Amino acid sequence: MQIEGSTGHYRDLEVQALAIAIFKDEKADEGFLKELDELTGGVVKSVLDAEELSGKEGETAYFHLLGENGPKATRLLLIGVGNREEYRPAQITQMAGTAVRSLRAKGIKSVAIVPRADGDTESIASMAVEGAIMGLFDLDKYRTVDKEKRKIEKLVIALAGADEAAISRGTERGRVIGEAVNFTRDLANEPGAWLTPTDMAERARDIANKFGLNIDVLDEARMEQEGMGSLLSVSHGSDQPAKLIILKYTPAEATGAVDGELLAFVGKGITFDTGGISLKPGENMELMKYDMTGGATVLGVMQAIAQIKPAISVLGVAACAENMPSGKATKPGDVVRAMTGKTIEVINTDAEGRLILADAIAYAKKLGATRVVDLATLTGAVSIALGDVHAAILGNDQAMVDEVVAAGKEVGEKFWQLPLDAEYSKQIKSDIADIKNVGGRKAGTITAAAFLKEFAEGLAWAHLDIAGTAWADDVKPHRSKGPTGIAVRTLINLVERASRARLE
Ligand code: BES
Ligand code: ZN
Ligand code: ZN
Repeated sequence: MQIEGSTGHYRDLEVQALAIAIFKDEKADEGFLKELDELTGGVVKSVLDAEELSGKEGETAYFHLLGENGPKATRLLLIGVGNREEYRPAQITQMAGTAVRSLRAKGIKSVAIVPRADGDTESIASMAVEGAIMGLFDLDKYRTVDKEKRKIEKLVIALAGADEAAISRGTERGRVIGEAVNFTRDLANEPGAWLTPTDMAERARDIANKFGLNIDVLDEARMEQEGMGSLLSVSHGSDQPAKLIILKYTPAEATGAVDGELLAFVGKGITFDTGGISLKPGENMELMKYDMTGGATVLGVMQAIAQIKPAISVLGVAACAENMPSGKATKPGDVVRAMTGKTIEVINTDAEGRLILADAIAYAKKLGATRVVDLATLTGAVSIALGDVHAAILGNDQAMVDEVVAAGKEVGEKFWQLPLDAEYSKQIKSDIADIKNVGGRKAGTITAAAFLKEFAEGLAWAHLDIAGTAWADDVKPHRSKGPTGIAVRTLINLVERASRARLE
């Protein structure tokens, strides 16, 4: 898809369709809409008067433009974006997604999006492009019939009177971020058979070579040497060896970066979670192919970081393994020794995410990480607590948690903090080892985080549980069902914010 910015009037754009934002309860007889109404032969006033469109978020109205003196485009899509006072980047992203999805369905090939937002041109242009690229993601990779063949070939972001250079920086940033999100979603959607830990390591190598990142992949022999008994206990039952993928971005000298602080992202990359000997029930087990979303998010974020080139170093760790039952599998009751020396009684082999993250977090620390955000499809309990609206965030450093929440808010991704008081750690005390890997029925998301906290000592650490938000069960006007790419944009934004703070 060709992407460009335009600073001119929408009337003159050489595209088939215009997608224009409309605010809630906006009137057609003043300002922007008055002019649009005049240029389109009165269709805007007509549809508003008929109360077919109120400007509520997600509403749309579609027109063929027949007049002689109107815009060059022959189609118009009005998209409700809600109250003008509450119009934020998040709404721009969704508006752009809705625009491209509904126009593609009509066979339109070239689209201009008119977001009508005030504020920072670069970020508005970026949000619009991110939304459009994310909107075009589909689940039909493996379909051979009834596949979506229609394509949008040209996308214009129209910001009349804005600075040209700022728009083009924004559209480029938007492309990088949108593609990173879809890369992550694409991995999350891959069947377990076609994306093993070894495959994930290969994808990571591709990124490293293509975009210029340092890469190291620990195989099981090296994990053995590092004493990663916790991580290795998960892959034991599988024919697929575990891989610990390490990607590193280091800024060029010239950006004036200082070292000492190192931000790391650590992701859970279970390429398929059967539960192991504590086997999961069959219903919906196929979805456990997306149990590597945390790891895929780390890869997507690092791909974007390599192109955005922030002024701070970033470490990305994806801990990849397959959780299978077999004659070699870890059994409930087994005791394993983590890299830090802590012993863990494995009560339930289905609580495997925390076992691999324990060693991955410890290894990030060994590599010099001082600030760690881990992310994982860790507990079914998070869906009970927060549904598919908020991801959970917990941590041992309030400033770190606040920073992630704020970075998320700016891009429209929601994180809700759960408490992590010391009392919860009592639930993971073991009778025979230092800790056990499950904490009973109560507060499942919190006790999982309490387990990870044991391995984040000395770090500023935040944990994101994305089990309820990484996979959408339903289609929305602005996005397909399936993998959502949650947290990719938040973490990229977190890095950009830290980079700006460093340069100030
Ligand atoms: N991968 C699952 C969590 C999950 C559930 C992710 C649903 C996405 C959707 C995780 O490994 C798991 O099985 N957790 C157990 C923990 C329990 C045994 C303490 C769970 O949540 O039931
Ligand atoms: Zn599990
Ligand atoms: Zn799992």
